[in-house]
This record gives sequence, structure tokens and C-alpha cells, in this order.
Amino acid sequence: MCGIIGIISQSNVSIRLLEGLKRLEYRGYDSAGIATITDGGIDRRRAEGKLEKLIDVVNDHPLEGHIGIGHTRWATHGGVTKSNAHPMANETVAVVHNGIIENFASLKENLIKRGAVFTSDTDTEVVMHIVTFHMQEGLTPFKAVQKALSQIKGAFALAFLFKNHDNMLIAARRGSPLVLGMTESELFIGSDAIALASWVKTLCYLEEGDIATLTLNDTTPEIIISDADGEIVQRPLRQTNITVDAISKGAFTHYMLKEIFEQPLTISDTLQSLISIEDESFHSPLLALNKPFSKIRIIACGTSYYAGMVAKYWFEKLAHIHVDVEIASEFRYRTPVFDGQTLNLFITQSGETIDTMAALTLVKQNNETCLSIVNVSESSIARASDFVIHTMAGPEIGVASTKAFTAQLVVLAAICLKFAKERCTISETEWTQYFQSFAKLPGCISELLRNDGIYHQLATHLCQVHHALYLGRGVNFPIALEGALKLKEISYIHAEGYPAGELKHGPIALIDPKMPVIVLAPHDEWFEKTLSNVQEVLARGAKVIIFSDEKGTKQIIEQTKTMKCLEIVTLPESNILTAPILFTLPIQLLAYYTAHMKGTDVDQPRNLAKSVTVE
Ligand code: AGP
Repeated sequence: MCGIIGIISQSNVSIRLLEGLKRLEYRGYDSAGIATITDGGIDRRRAEGKLEKLIDVVNDHPLEGHIGIGHTRWATHGGVTKSNAHPMANETVAVVHNGIIENFASLKENLIKRGAVFTSDTDTEVVMHIVTFHMQEGLTPFKAVQKALSQIKGAFALAFLFKNHDNMLIAARRGSPLVLGMTESELFIGSDAIALASWVKTLCYLEEGDIATLTLNDTTPEIIISDADGEIVQRPLRQTNITVDAISKGAFTHYMLKEIFEQPLTISDTLQSLISIEDESFHSPLLALNKPFSKIRIIACGTSYYAGMVAKYWFEKLAHIHVDVEIASEFRYRTPVFDGQTLNLFITQSGETIDTMAALTLVKQNNETCLSIVNVSESSIARASDFVIHTMAGPEIGVASTKAFTAQLVVLAAICLKFAKERCTISETEWTQYFQSFAKLPGCISELLRNDGIYHQLATHLCQVHHALYLGRGVNFPIALEGALKLKEISYIHAEGYPAGELKHGPIALIDPKMPVIVLAPHDEWFEKTLSNVQEVLARGAKVIIFSDEKGTKQIIEQTKTMKCLEIVTLPESNILTAPILFTLPIQLLAYYTAHMKGTDVDQPRNLAKSVTVE
């Protein structure tokens, strides 16, 4: 969601503020703005809509200044208008904000009584007024911010700029992440490391309740951090390995397409970080998982939740472990029963999803073990967990998750094998077969990607429909859900995923010749049943697209001779562990090419944000 950037330099910062905001676009936003100090006073430019509009405004009315803050806003309080765009500013202070000020309504009422005049509908503006009042009372900018923060409730990250202070920024974190960067002569604030890529290599992540004062005295940069109790603290410095290459589109039309095509590599990297295929053994992140437990509870949102659903099939079948899969936003508000014997597994690409974080906090309060699978290594969820396993997907910029999902599945499959081995629930022969299939997986995916013309062709049909149905059974049922989610997220076509066996219990009423039905049917233990369901929809005139393997394709052709499918796509052979990973690729490509043909904003679909940091 919203993005923050801040720079103190000796040269003009407005172009680099815009550059930083450009890198934050992926988070999702609907307006943007920047503010600097010019001749001691605060000056700002804001625009509704895409960053290009703000760039035009800045080109028409350049903004001077060696110090500044910038923001991409994803509307929560107040509509998408220029007046609600950040920075919120008056003569004294400018502020940008990620997150939500929960008690803003009562604060606003009091501020209005004290004479504050509001010019926006945002919750952020209350922060600006409170800090201003405290500065008018004679407090320093730092003390004014510190006092203001003691009055506001919620989860947020803030960056401030002050009149007559052209060498100082203040940053504060509670709930939403903020990272600081320093070079020999410049200072930076970013809502994530991606914002600062190319400018700094050494980063410092603020912790809960921290307030940082960044000052550039002549050419000497200095950062002073106070913790939630007001004590001066040192936070560890980290090296970032995010390169500009990793966050550029390269020759691809969209980040999403680039990320789909990166999967042979990201899957291979993730596998290699966890297992040694040659000697069929595990590496340290998996070996560290040695706490006893009686069952597993998987908690996540969206695509990550679907990865958890796949894992339930795997853990139950191969390792004989009881698994519950929970949607974080529901779990956190239920009254779950904690037995102290449960391993809680959090799956999250961003590591910042607020519902998943709140669920983790609830679990920790109840003294159960938390293991997280995250893609962003310095994220809040990674830092709050007892054990962390990193997916090696690299930065995922497209809002629709692709390579992070398959990397999550790889981690879950490796964990499952570890537990199965420990519990002796799979034979030596199966064990070796699974390792060998893992070794072949990146190659199979490369082969599939080389033949992507078919998905392009299928998209010419799909881009004309208004609804679509995805069916799967067993480990491929969650992939049907993921297929439907991918299509609706980026093409805005209404789609539903169903376990094929549920069809007769309602959704079959929707079937007519205008309803495409996309079926995921490898020749596995569920194949025959799925094929019967295919017959049922074909008999009702649906246009059926089936993804299967060689053995399955033969049988489908034989059995559907009279009622032909629109298309049967034959994928490489798979097993229970590799099938959900492999069958994810077709549904990603189908969604991508369909959306691309419809001309939607594939990388930043409307209303969506990359990391969902508000409830
Ligand atoms: C995926 O395409 C979505 N954009 C969304 O469902 C996402 O998976 C969900 O918000 C969870 O995010 P997380 O993995 O960062 O926690």
C-alpha cells in the first residue's frame, strides 16, 4: 500500500524523490506528491492518479530544495483527490503517512475546537495539526513528534519535514515498516528497501516505536534513533542485495510476465537453499525446525493462503500430520483454542500483511511456536517469528503474486518431506522419487514456458467472456482457486474456483455455452473423478479447456470423442508434490495474456496493493 520516500542531500532532490516513488509504484497507489524546503519554507506538488501526472506537474512547476519527502497514496480515509494526496502540509510541517490513525475522528474533533482548519478528509492531517500545535507551544520538532505519537493510536509509518530545518527529517514507525539509508554525504528514508535501491547498500530498519532524526550537518550525515521509551538506541546495519536489475522489467512488457518467466530460476534457488538433491539431505533452515508439535496450523491471506491449502493435502497424505488452514483476517477475530502443542506456520510474500501479523501476535501471546515462510527477509513477520524460512523468489513487483507463490510451494514441499522422513511415513523409494522429481522441476517449467504460444491463443477466447470457472481436485483444487483469483485480479473477469466434486451442488447451474471451464487434471488419483465432471459440463455445452499430462490427454481424447473440449494442453509429467507447482504456470500465463489483451494495468490492477497493511 502507500509508499514513503525521504532524502537529505546537497543537491536538488525532487527528481530523485520521483524516482524513488516510481520504484514504490508496485505497492499500489492512486495519488502521489512530494514536498521540499525552499528558502526555509515548505513547498509541495501533488497529483491525483498515476505518477506520470505528478511528473508533469513537477515539470511544469519545478520544485527546488535539497531535502524532501514523497508519497504514493492508496486511499483509506477520504477519496482519491489531489487535496487528500500526501504530503499533508501547512506552513510549519509536512508529513507523509502509511497506515491508519485509528482515533483520528476524536482527535479531529478536538483539533477543530482548538481552531485547526482541515483541508482534507484524511486521517493523516490530524498528525500534521497535532505536531504543529506542539511546535507552537515551543517544543522542538523531535519533542513535538514524540508527544504527537503518544496521542495517536493505530499502525503507521511517518516521515516529517519542518519549516526552517533544511537539514533534518524525522521518521517514526509503529506497525508499518520504515528503512533508513546512509551514504557518505546523503540520508534516505524508504517504506521498503526497493525504494532506496541504487542509492544505498547499507540499510537500517526501524523497530516498533522508534523515532529517528536524520541530520546532514554540512556534509556529515547523522542518524539518531530513540526507542519507544525515549532511550537512544543503535539498530543493526544490514546490507541489501537488491539491485536495480532485480527490480527492472528488462525486456518484458510487464513485471508479472518477467516474474512468471523467472520461475525456473526462483524455484531452483529456493530448492537449493533447502535441500541437497545430490545427497538427498536438508540444509540448515529446515534442520533448525526441531521443536516437537502435534499438529500444524497454517495462517495466511490470498494467494499465500492457497499455498497453505496445498500444503494441507501434502502434510496429511505424506507426513500424516493434522493440518488446519486459516484465513488470517478470520482467525485473528475468532476465539481459537491453543493447546501449546501446535506449530503455527505463517505464509506471506511481503511479510507485512496486517491480518497475518495480527494472527502471529495472537499466537505468540498464547505461547505457541511460530514458523514463517516469507519472501521479504527484513519484514515485520520474519522478525517476529521463532523460525523463518525465506523463499528465494527475489523482489516481486507485480501486484499479482506469481513466483513468490511457487517458491512458497517449494518450501512447503521441502518441509513436508522433512516431516515425512522423520515420521517414517514415506518409503525410501518414494523419498528418492520425490527428490528426483524436484531435480527435474525447473527444467519442466522452462519447457512449459518455451511453449507459451498456446496460452496466448487461449487468451483470445478468454478475453471475450465475462465469467469463468476453474475446477480441480485434491492438490489441484487450491490451484483452481488461485487460477480464478489471478484472472479476476488482473483482467477483472469474474472467475470462481471449485473442487470439481462440488459442481453438482450448485455451480453447475451456471454452465452454458458462454461459460468457459478451465480444468486442472493431471493423471493422478483424482483424475477419473475429474474426468466424469468434465463430461458433465461438456454435456451442458460449456467450453472446456483442460490442462493434463500425456497419459491424461490420451484418456481425455478417448472419452470425450463426441463432445470435444475446446483445448487440451499437455504438460510434463508430475507427482503429488510437483503437480501444484507445475499446474500453476498455465493459470498464470492464461491470466496474464487475457489481461494483456484486455489492456488492463497488469502490474498495478485497480484497487489492489502489493502489501496489504490496513485491515
Ligand atoms: C496475490 O496475487 C494477491 N495480490 C494477494 O492475494 C496476496 O497474496 C495477499 O494479499 C497476501 O499477501 P502476502 O503474501 O504478502 O501476505
